[in-house]
Amino acid sequence: MDFVEQLKSSIDIVKVIGEYVRLERKGATGRYSGLCPFHQEKTPSFSVHQQRQFYKCFGCGASGDLLKFVMEHDGLTFPEALRSLAERFGIPMPQRNEYSDADSRLRAALFEMHEAAADVFRENLRGPIGTEARAYLDRRGITAELIDVFGLGFSDPSGQSLVRRFSKYSAEQLEQSGLVRKRNEGTGHFDSFRGRLMFPIHNESGKVIGFGGRAMRDEDQPKYLNSPETPIYKKTTVLYNLHRARDGMRKGGRTVLVEGYMDVIGVYAAGVREVVASCGTALTNAQVRAMHRHADAVILNFDPDNAGQNAAEGAIKLLLDEGLHVRVLTLSGGDAGSKLDPDEFVKQFGGEAYRAKLDGAATYFHWMADRARGKFDMRTAEGRVEAFKWLLPAVQKVPDKLERAAVVNDMASYLGVDPSMVLDQFKRAASERRPAAPVVTRTAIPSSERILIEALLASPRVREEILPQIHQDMTASFVTREIIEAFRHVESEDQARVFADVEGRLSESARALLHDALATDHTEEGLEEELAWSQAKACLERLQSDGRRRRLSELKSQVKIAEREGRVKEALSLYGELEQLERETRSRAS
Ligand code: UTP
Ligand code: MN
Repeated sequence: MDFVEQLKSSIDIVKVIGEYVRLERKGATGRYSGLCPFHQEKTPSFSVHQQRQFYKCFGCGASGDLLKFVMEHDGLTFPEALRSLAERFGIPMPQRNEYSDADSRLRAALFEMHEAAADVFRENLRGPIGTEARAYLDRRGITAELIDVFGLGFSDPSGQSLVRRFSKYSAEQLEQSGLVRKRNEGTGHFDSFRGRLMFPIHNESGKVIGFGGRAMRDEDQPKYLNSPETPIYKKTTVLYNLHRARDGMRKGGRTVLVEGYMDVIGVYAAGVREVVASCGTALTNAQVRAMHRHADAVILNFDPDNAGQNAAEGAIKLLLDEGLHVRVLTLSGGDAGSKLDPDEFVKQFGGEAYRAKLDGAATYFHWMADRARGKFDMRTAEGRVEAFKWLLPAVQKVPDKLERAAVVNDMASYLGVDPSMVLDQFKRAASERRPAAPVVTRTAIPSSERILIEALLASPRVREEILPQIHQDMTASFVTREIIEAFRHVESEDQARVFADVEGRLSESARALLHDALATDHTEEGLEEELAWSQAKACLERLQSDGRRRRLSELKSQVKIAEREGRVKEALSLYGELEQLERETRSRAS
């Protein structure tokens, strides 16, 4: 068990929160409620769940586990919160070499190896084998100071320097580090990175956990070779440069999100400290949450190429779902009016020009509107309306009502759509889907969905046997679809970890839903296996029969259309399917 889990499992959240909030016990089992410490209120809407060890406020939406509470309440970083709790409850913080179990020992060795590797790479860059790499950096305008700040290095082309340096580690430690690899033939190992410019990747507390290695010539592929996932490097949660950017993010209230290592360095050189990148993978919820912990606004400055712009579209969605304020910067000014990536722009126009661009970056819907113009035929009225419809979901995420109305008008005139028609569309969409309000809205969770979640949580058998039969199209209209999907990834054998496993995969809003779903007194204890099974089974049967009913009416109308349009063969085959389905339905009903 890692130290964080150990700490969480030995401290009762009720005891910790109880020191700040007067908690009153509700019901027979461990639910407590009191006045929320995170917002002003007169009647209690804050509750703490002993069994599941989380807190949740229905008033302001604050929710989380023990560590989150201490971080938020005391304004601490994660490691600080850990230390504070450990000290308060007399739990010894592990020293690096005092880790108790094999897992922690391995992690400690990996940290050590990465630190040593970063040293070796740095020395290489300074020494005689670094001549070419130094010239390359120089050509790209990367000064000695930047090399130093970012700890850039060079990996020995011979592939032997790390292996030699790591003689004291076991074969397992070597292989788990991702820094060296086993030879296919013969015995022994060789360095994974050879003849590459090395960018160390740090975790949030500043420890080296991986590397990106850039090829120095175009013919060397891939352009970047990155460390594999290891016990200390989880790609989906790491943001490049976050440990250096944190202070700037908190001070400025914003994060500049770019795509690449080189962009981070370029933007930093422009005097902008609050810059991070998601090392070569699509942005994840965990990374978005990491940004949100330090600042509420994000300026997206991705590469102008297609890949970059597509990535931006995905990123915007995630950022908005997390409730962040999003602006987008697209840099023009290259030769023949071409667009530039952040690194090139800063190199050509300097830091001041770049900072001015950042400050002037427009909100995301202007960027989205431009994108819509590219996607649809704007010469026709239909095309313009389609474009507007495509934009609607994003516009609806603007929390403030007046601002939202202004954006709608803005977008309509920008796209050349008749405002009255737009308003109509907008009202219809708004009545179908309630727009996000600034205060957390409580989405009502149908009891059938709640019961299914309870059953999934309680029973491994339900997860293994019933869940695979619940197809994605059956849950498409579920309020809790994201939660059900998360259950599909649970691998844990250990019942006690299922909840954390699922919770860890969810976006902020889905997590709040999960807490809501479980926040009723009668679900406190969890279901018995037997009951869980029968409830889940009943739920599955209902979903299946709903599906059949939907398919039936779909088929009926398809048959009609095919008949009307004279597609006889097709009508007949559809009819056959229809009859089959009707027989099935009858036999199930009897
Ligand atoms: P870019 O190709 O834009 O790289 O990829 P860059 O950082 O701007 O570097 P230069 O300016 O071309 O030298 C953006 C990011 O995508 C990841 C890296 O994290 C890179 O920084 N990437 C790119 C890979 O992981 N592998 C690749 O082969 C290419
Ligand atoms: Mn670049």
